[in-house]
Amino acid sequence: MVIQKICCLGAGYVGGPTCSVIALKCPDIKVTVCDKSVDRINQWNSDKLPIYEPGLDDVVKQCRGRNLFFSTDIETSILEADLIFISVNTPTKTIGNGKGRAADLKYIEGAARMIADIATSNKIVVEKSTVPVKAAEIIMKILRANTKPGVEYQILSNPEFLAEGTAIVDLVESERVLIGGEETTEGQKAIQELCWVYEHWIPAKNILTTNTWSSELSKLAANAFLAQRISSINSLSAVCEATGADVSEVARAVGRDSRIGPKFLEASIGFGGSCFQKDILNLIYLSECLNLPEVAAYWQQVVSLNDYQKTRFTRKVIESLFNTVADKKIAILGFSFKKNTGDTRESPAIYVSSTLLDEGAKLHIYDPKVEYDQIFYELTHPLVTSEPEKVKKNIQIHNSAYSAVSGAHALVLCTEWDEFKSLDYKKIYDAMMKPAYIFDGRKILDHEALLNIGFHVQTIGKRLSRTSSIRAQGSQTMHSI
Ligand code: NAD
Ligand code: UDX
Repeated sequence: MVIQKICCLGAGYVGGPTCSVIALKCPDIKVTVCDKSVDRINQWNSDKLPIYEPGLDDVVKQCRGRNLFFSTDIETSILEADLIFISVNTPTKTIGNGKGRAADLKYIEGAARMIADIATSNKIVVEKSTVPVKAAEIIMKILRANTKPGVEYQILSNPEFLAEGTAIVDLVESERVLIGGEETTEGQKAIQELCWVYEHWIPAKNILTTNTWSSELSKLAANAFLAQRISSINSLSAVCEATGADVSEVARAVGRDSRIGPKFLEASIGFGGSCFQKDILNLIYLSECLNLPEVAAYWQQVVSLNDYQKTRFTRKVIESLFNTVADKKIAILGFSFKKNTGDTRESPAIYVSSTLLDEGAKLHIYDPKVEYDQIFYELTHPLVTSEPEKVKKNIQIHNSAYSAVSGAHALVLCTEWDEFKSLDYKKIYDAMMKPAYIFDGRKILDHEALLNIGFHVQTIGKRLSRTSSIRAQGSQTMHSI
């Protein structure tokens, strides 16, 4: 079979950008991205796409209406597709067995049942969502138990490795594409057919093929390794603050070892995003189910250290402000979980903000890309507060950093947006209450310059003090004399 038509179930952060790039690179294939959410599809068909991702607008503009379509007509798309990506969400379960750790596979199951109900011809079904090992078996069981006469399915695992904020570059220049399938002749044939799609733009040497279970586990493993690096450097940031070492210097020295490498060693307020925590919890649950408690405990520590980092940073803010933030105005700069995305899922800013709100602070929040409603949604969610009305009264959302900081006792930087580096901090200092505090949760600001302006500055993994800065200035002056 030569693949001519692709359908994708799930028009989210993965399905949308991934299929847009497939459409861009494979003009000979018709790609239809479907979602149950009418709102989401309407947005994909509008000038304001539902997600902010650098470069995405251009790709969609080039392909939409040519060989890229966004549709709620799931039935037609499944009927005509040769290959179907399942890119639905796989959140952590919030109720029942495995609550708080296991992946909730209800959307995967729902998608498989839709395909089984609708399909009348052979399909390659590709699991693109991140799932626990052996999830493909669920899809297989549902499809094969409901197969219509003459219809055959092959199920592949093809996990997605894009990171938000760099999704288009990650997809266009993928370091690797991973495809897992059954070790039968038909399974291998299906793998080759999906390889052919990617070979339109990915060098064959970057396309790895394996069996289904190795492919599923590799995705969880990759995210667990990346998150583990962040927790490792964050653990050392606490040691640095206690000793006077500088975590950036430690990361620079450690990362110079080619066996370790320099990437993903940026100490921070803690990792966020929809993937890391969910996928590690998934791995922990899997290990527990396999009766491997030591393995589960090992990975649990990566999540616990991340919680510790967020708590440690927030406690530092409160303690520095004379151990009370009640009725104080605090500016929160950045609410997304990293720069260049409007996504707030598991953003550390949520924990920081909700803890400060619990302590009675009045928050003035600014983020360049997060919608107002989204900030309210996150901070009034039942899992975050039992008093949504009170919370709403204590939040104001601003459309510029300058308006958020005006009259504030403290500025708390939660996301590393580039624009925060080039703000006029003298102007900000003049507009703030004194003493004026800055808490740089991302280590992106020029701390020496801020100290010289007069700010009290705290950051991650490095001790800073006004007195040392003034002393440094004084000794420079003496030298110049
Ligand atoms: P998302 O919540 O942004 O999108 C999922 C979409 O699927 C939603 O719009 C939902 O309405 C839709 N959906 C659910 N069931 C459906 C069905 N039966 N038919 C049609 N649409 C349906 O999620 P996401 O961030 O795109 O993540 C999707 C999967 O990819 C998850 O398993 C995630 O772990 C994985 N992943 C995400 C990223 C990322 O950066 N966000 C990266 C790699 C992998
Ligand atoms: C991650 C994986 O990188 C990607 O391969 C996978 O497909 C999905 O999950 P994403 O969550 O979008 O991608 O962003 P990522 O760049 O990994 O950042 C995750 C979090 O870690 C962010 O909050 C980021 O600020 C934080 N981080 C990242 C650090 O704190 N320090 C670092 O050195 C790197």
